[in-house]
Amino acid sequence: MITQVLVLNGPNLGRLGVREPDIYGSASFDELAELCRSTGRTLGLHVDVRQTDSESEMISWVHEAADARMPVVINPAAFTHYSYALRDALAMRTAPLVEVHISNPAARESFRHTSVVAGVADGTVAGFGLVSYQLALQAIAELAAESPPSASAGAAQAAEPRPEEPAQR
Ligand code: DQA
Repeated sequence: MITQVLVLNGPNLGRLGVREPDIYGSASFDELAELCRSTGRTLGLHVDVRQTDSESEMISWVHEAADARMPVVINPAAFTHYSYALRDALAMRTAPLVEVHISNPAARESFRHTSVVAGVADGTVAGFGLVSYQLALQAIAELAAESPPSASAGAAQAAEPRPEEPAQR
């Protein structure tokens, strides 16, 4: 069974390749996206890679993943350090969640030492450049294999509340 995974990227990550290459490397966002999709194929994952500079759009994607019981790899970028709204959205997750960073925020400015989303993730991978995403997808594959979505719930079906589960509105 192919597992659908969202790889979500926050503000300024669309500028990869030109953005502080000494910190984030020379690969473009399109190259990162292709790396994630090809890594996913080797792991039996169908990977949908997205990027936004908007907190609102990011939160709507997190809601979409929760409704569809879809695992998420997220690089929240600067939202990592202050977005309680994103953390609250991620706390509603219904499938594995891995936080990822290209750089190692713990080794940088002090404002980067706090992640407000780490506490609702299964784990965090940081500091390995684009390899961080490959490691995160590997973790997602392991976690999804441990607790696959129920056999009757494909991603599309799972978007609807099941009869025995009242909608949480
Ligand atoms: C980042 C680290 C964050 O501190 C920063 O705001 C980013 C990128 C990373 O991938 O290393 O935008 O998430």
